[in-house]
Amino acid sequence: MKLTMIGNGNMAVALIAGLYKKYDLEIVGRNGDKLQAIAKKYKNVTVKEIGDSFDIEGKNVILCVKPYSLDDVSKKLKGKAKNLFSILAGTTLESLKNAISSAHYVRVMPNVSAVYGSSMTTLTGDLDAKELSKEIFSAIGEVLWLDTQKELDIATAIAGSGPAYLALIADALADGGVKAGLKRDDAKAITAGLFAGFGDLIKNTEASKIKEQVMSPAGTTACGVASLEDANVRSAFIKAVESAFNRAVELGKNSFSLLETLICVIILAVLSVGMSKIISTNTDTLSNNSKLDDAYFYISNDLNTTIQTTQLTTSKGTIQVNKTIYDKDGIYLYRYKL
Ligand SMILES: NC(=O)c1ccc[n+]([C@@H]2O[C@H](COP(=O)([O-])OP(=O)(O)OC[C@H]3O[C@@H](n4cnc5c(N)ncnc54)[C@H](OP(=O)(O)O)[C@@H]3O)[C@@H](O)[C@H]2O)c1
Repeated sequence: MKLTMIGNGNMAVALIAGLYKKYDLEIVGRNGDKLQAIAKKYKNVTVKEIGDSFDIEGKNVILCVKPYSLDDVSKKLKGKAKNLFSILAGTTLESLKNAISSAHYVRVMPNVSAVYGSSMTTLTGDLDAKELSKEIFSAIGEVLWLDTQKELDIATAIAGSGPAYLALIADALADGGVKAGLKRDDAKAITAGLFAGFGDLIKNTEASKIKEQVMSPAGTTACGVASLEDANVRSAFIKAVESAFNRAVELGKNSFSLLETLICVIILAVLSVGMSKIISTNTDTLSNNSKLDDAYFYISNDLNTTIQTTQLTTSKGTIQVNKTIYDKDGIYLYRYKL
């Protein structure tokens, strides 16, 4: 069976690694160099530039672009797909139906472990496409069909984002080892080995049981676990899942188009006082900007930016937000003082 992937970024590349052995893959993107690099690595994969128009008539399409690119990409897609599988976080079936024509629609939430065939992938959508989608995505790991889009958004907050949470834990554990006196490479190797073994353990044993088994009375693990509880780690993870879920719901509302965003920015910039200045859409540019005055506008559609009601945490540090000027569908426009 042939699968057409639209987008060739991080997640698409992870999916290709699992899917190419079983399916004929057609990868469609906008950057010729990146496409050629994929073609070089996977000889039996076809690559195509999207250009102004790409025909999806009768195809099984896996949509792998960022949620905010949906408007732009959908304008270039012509014809009616047979099945549309979308991996776009938060983007609802309704938004997909409005944007791209297909007989069936399924939302799919894989994670980056797909690159090793170990994704935990959740799916929901048209029941007519349930069995086919489960079959296709079982090529990249485990699959679980969920009944509702809300459940998929919650699963996104656990398994889609989860590799980042676990990477943070792995990094912190290795730091702990180094702090206690281990060489960095040894600390990393021990942490990696721990995670590799834990996969099998958690599949076969309840999490609470594992904890009980390892915690002996007045033992080392009991001391370690007590420290984690003191630091409210459990509560931090519950909040992390809740925040990521809320963000998925925000992304699911109809997205503000790039043109609308630019118009809004220009109007607000003109209306604002002279010292206000528009900077960019990501925190890296913010941190690299050497000419920061006292008032700026900042737009964020970046999942890596932690947004709270009164402060914005960026790679430059925490900034007090004076006022949210505009907040629509996951695009935030703030005025703040450094
Ligand atoms: N990363 C994860 O762990 C993860 C997990 C689950 C789901 N997802 C979902 O996967 C999707 C992709 O994420 P990602 O991390 O792979 O992002 P990414 O690396 O930025 O990839 C996005 C891809 O879309 C392409 N693209 C953007 N606009 C386009 C356009 N107008 N026409 C054609 N191609 C266009 C980009 O092309 P260029 O290369 O030319 O920029 C790039 O290849 C997102 O919707 C995300 O929610 C990600």
